[in-house]
Amino acid sequence: MKGIILAGGEGTRLWPVTKATSKQLLAVWDKPMIFYPLSTLLLAGVRDILVVTGPGQAEAFEALLGDGSAFGVSIAYASQPRPEGIAQALLIGRDFLAGEGCALVLGDNLFHGDRLRERLRRAVRRPAGATVFAHPVRDPQRYGVLAFDGDGAPLDIIEKPASPPSNLAVTGFYLYDGTAPDRAAELRPSARGELEITDLNRSYLEDGELAVETLGRGCAWLDTGTPASLLQAAQFVQAIEERQGLKVGCPEETAFQLGLIDADGLAERARAYGSSEYGLYLAHLAREDGGVADPTGGLPVGSESRMSLP
Ligand code: G1P
Repeated sequence: MKGIILAGGEGTRLWPVTKATSKQLLAVWDKPMIFYPLSTLLLAGVRDILVVTGPGQAEAFEALLGDGSAFGVSIAYASQPRPEGIAQALLIGRDFLAGEGCALVLGDNLFHGDRLRERLRRAVRRPAGATVFAHPVRDPQRYGVLAFDGDGAPLDIIEKPASPPSNLAVTGFYLYDGTAPDRAAELRPSARGELEITDLNRSYLEDGELAVETLGRGCAWLDTGTPASLLQAAQFVQAIEERQGLKVGCPEETAFQLGLIDADGLAERARAYGSSEYGLYLAHLAREDGGVADPTGGLPVGSESRMSLP
């Protein structure tokens, strides 16, 4: 399964902060925003990633992430000329995907929680169709929202409904089989001029091929598109990291824990970050060979025993 991180868009709700830079490069506490969805993709088992950026912005992302070898994966770049919807990422990524299924994650979405890795991987193993991940929110009007029938089966998904049928929002992590680009090509722009991801998901739903995984309250899902949500996400990460002494959304640590890079690779990356607190954290992990005093094995997103890792 391949992966796409959508890091395009103009970040208009953050202007003027994002007038001259990408939202997904802004800091969420101690690391760039895109590190969080990158960690999530690694956890899901993705090793071949396309980062879709706004026009002229690929260079900055490449300066940060390179060809992916620092994380033991491959990272390529493509540009979205105009912000014409999340589903457009599947069209931009059509050649990259070459008929394979993919995990699509929004570059401003942060997931953290218990057993997340297991849940992602279980969904990835599903051979056909699509999977969306739902999470309860206080303000469903801002999201794609799921409606269910009496048996709890998904009935509909409505984008930013005035009267939400449930409090379960569709998060920005999606799994698709190889039919997604063809389905995306059939979509027509919505009233806001975008190829809506909700319409793509509805196409799977109508064919009886949409699975819904509900992430409960033990899992945190944060988006970071407004000044308030960006600050809240940073405060969330700060609180957890300072309490536990373990990082959230640290792709080098995830790669190390998963065996994608070894201690030498981790130490090299630590040196590249110099004497920053982040660099020192990686250096410590490399020295200790991951043997931090952490029963979960220090997995930054989704905490499971190190013993259960492949
Ligand atoms: C988009 C999707 C929406 C989804 C949300 C998750 O919203 O359209 O269905 O719930 O991402 O972050 P947008 O960011 O375009 O407002």
